[in-house]
Amino acid sequence: MEKSINNSGSIRVGYQCPSNIALVKYWGKKEGGVQLPANPSISWSLGDLYASTIVQALPRENDQAFVFTLAGESKPSFEPKIASFLTKIASDCPWLVDFTLHIDSQNNFPHGTGIASSAAGFGALSLCLAHIEQLLLGDSSLQSEVGGMNFWQRSSYLSRIGSGSACRSMFAKPAVWGQTPAVTGSSDLFAVELDFETHPSLSNWKDVVLIVDDGEKSVSSTAGHALLTNHPYAEARFGQAQKNLEGIVLSMKNGDVKSFIEIVESEALQLHSMMMTSIPYYVLMRPNTLAIIEQIWSFREQTGLSICFTLDAGANVHFLYDGKIEETVMNFVNNTLLQYCKNGQYLCSNTGKRPVEL
Ligand code: PMV
Repeated sequence: MEKSINNSGSIRVGYQCPSNIALVKYWGKKEGGVQLPANPSISWSLGDLYASTIVQALPRENDQAFVFTLAGESKPSFEPKIASFLTKIASDCPWLVDFTLHIDSQNNFPHGTGIASSAAGFGALSLCLAHIEQLLLGDSSLQSEVGGMNFWQRSSYLSRIGSGSACRSMFAKPAVWGQTPAVTGSSDLFAVELDFETHPSLSNWKDVVLIVDDGEKSVSSTAGHALLTNHPYAEARFGQAQKNLEGIVLSMKNGDVKSFIEIVESEALQLHSMMMTSIPYYVLMRPNTLAIIEQIWSFREQTGLSICFTLDAGANVHFLYDGKIEETVMNFVNNTLLQYCKNGQYLCSNTGKRPVEL
């Protein structure tokens, strides 16, 4: 692909960006600022569940900021989110007014399966924009710092404004978003990767996403975050997340799998507890979500294997396991868990891949 600015002044770049799964959850925003987290979170990127986005920036001839297509087809329902994102980053990226962006994006996983498609989608779009910015600065090596941020941090910064969790999709190592004394250089503005190698007992885990419900969520994440304002347990939850972040970083350093599992599962249940105790209260877990959790617990009890679950803001279960025991785990999935999955659907991914330039 031609990535320099051509004679007509147009630029074309593309990125594949993974989704990610939070181990310590972002749930609730700081007052003031644009999409700043109330507590730090940490995630693994899901390298096999990704969005691929191509952006062509053409010199602007009218007032059209962008044209969006999903795998080549126009998709008007996606346009308001993209329009709002581009408006929000306009002051950070003043060059945008000179171009009409032709954005084509597609996910390699089905839309509406409850996978964080917005993380991968905004991640891929932001990588393209950060790359175009570098080319406009005359830098094709992606080495220029913008606002004191390197290319990956800048991409993370921009994607955060589109979807908070997207900012953690830029890194191969575990990504931390939100200021915490546990991670040097951590910031509310963008994610950073852990600056040490994860202990081998936690460095090659995989994720099977068990699709319990593939419909629209009854309460969006945006609405869910907002319900943390005036939530009776909000301050306690933010404190717990800080503590869990410190604990999980330590467990990744020391290879303390037991403590890792305890934190990951507790985080998932705390996230859903916050939903169940907000006003209005709501429940996103379904009966099969609980059935799967109980099966995972009883299988772990019987086998002592390194396995656990986590949840997003939805009914699906992310079943995390050490890649070394893949065969045993997949037998368990197919023999025991499949019956709880909607139409037998599940998705598999490695963890820990960074985005790829197309
Ligand atoms: O990025 P948002 O606004 O869709 O929030 C996502 C929040 C969770 O997925 C529930 C947790 C997280 O940290 O990813």
